[in-house]
Amino acid sequence: MIEIGGIRLDTSDTREFLSESELADLAPRVARAATELAEGTSPGAEFLGWLDLPAGIDAEELASYNESAARMASDCEICVVVGIGGSYLGARAVLDALVPDPLPGRPEILFAGNGLCAATFDRTLKRLEDRDFRVIVISKSGTTLEPAVAFRQLRSLLVQRYGRADAARRITAITDRSRGALRQLATEEEYETFVIPDDVGGRFSVLTPVGLLPLAAAGVPIEKLIAGARTMHTACAGRDLETNPAHRYAATRIGLYEKGFTTEVMSSFHGGLQTLQEWWKQLFGESEGKGGQGIFPASTVFTTDLHSLGQYIQDGRRDLQETFICVRDSGRPLTVPSGGEGDANLDGLDYLAGRSLDEINWKAYEGTRKAHLSGGVPCSAFELDAVTPEVLGGLIYLFEKAVGIGGRLLNVNPFDQPGVETYKQEMFRLLGKP
Ligand code: PA5
Repeated sequence: MIEIGGIRLDTSDTREFLSESELADLAPRVARAATELAEGTSPGAEFLGWLDLPAGIDAEELASYNESAARMASDCEICVVVGIGGSYLGARAVLDALVPDPLPGRPEILFAGNGLCAATFDRTLKRLEDRDFRVIVISKSGTTLEPAVAFRQLRSLLVQRYGRADAARRITAITDRSRGALRQLATEEEYETFVIPDDVGGRFSVLTPVGLLPLAAAGVPIEKLIAGARTMHTACAGRDLETNPAHRYAATRIGLYEKGFTTEVMSSFHGGLQTLQEWWKQLFGESEGKGGQGIFPASTVFTTDLHSLGQYIQDGRRDLQETFICVRDSGRPLTVPSGGEGDANLDGLDYLAGRSLDEINWKAYEGTRKAHLSGGVPCSAFELDAVTPEVLGGLIYLFEKAVGIGGRLLNVNPFDQPGVETYKQEMFRLLGKP
């Protein structure tokens, strides 16, 4: 068990599948991968800016996001964040976990440009009728089709409603320092802009303006998110599998993969973490899945999915490893009521009366873990005291470090995504792109 800043990593229920000595055998490979990352000697070394990012962010940078966010709060009810993949999932993950409903005095955050579904986009556009809104458009390349199409539509709506000059004041662009169509547009139209560092790839960019500005706009205390990431950055600097949670997690999952457990299911018991699981899937899937290699990342939310995918996990093909993520204190003190006077316990629930849903959910986690282990599934667990900005910042850094190490253990470049280009080429050919 490794415990850092409200996050406990427990890999004890993987032992019967990957012994302590097998894990110890992986330690030199993990240490070598960490050294390669630190020294920038592995493939993709030009994208290692995320590695020490938490330590490098200063108060002035955070203040610039908070100041921009305060201006946004003063003139809009809705802020639409336009972006896809790494350019939106991180902010959305933190937001859904911490601020599922808008905070007083802060705009509601909507997301657009993360797909091409007309019905979804139309619903978003309808929400903007009669409400003051602004846009944060995020694209590192500045050329991705999905956000570009949504942004074109939103931009023309802003111009119709506020006129060209005011529309431009309602747009913030987060993009490359100098390259791409979005940078060009932002310069011509004089949008407020923030820069995505050259050496940070999309899925590693939550702790840059890509994640921090939308979160500040929603009222998330971004200083606390960074503080949690900083604590984890320090904890993940050592080389010891017994104390470094990123190394332990990376070694465990890759060790299991090499023994045939080729799919990793992240199972949470907390609906608010569902988008974090989506971000985790993108981070690991896009980083590791290449050259015929990689653990397939999947996710479930329990107990809901115990009544669907639970059957498969318990009893289906035995190539699954499971990583639980669960929360002790949801901050919602809901309990099972006692039966009223004269109630004859007809629903049979008197044994639960007065007990909290958090306690019952935790027992469901413990029971599920035992059950899946007995079904032949190696189980790791991230047990969280509570869902706080610090804990989320810590998890974000831990997962980034673990995938950086994991990619090297798999001998792939974890920082590119050549496979994503294939669908684009086919789609653009069909669309007749010049
Ligand atoms: O992780 C990545 O690099 C990708 O998921 C990108 O974030 C995604 O494709 C969006 O790219 P861009 O920000 O260039 O529009």
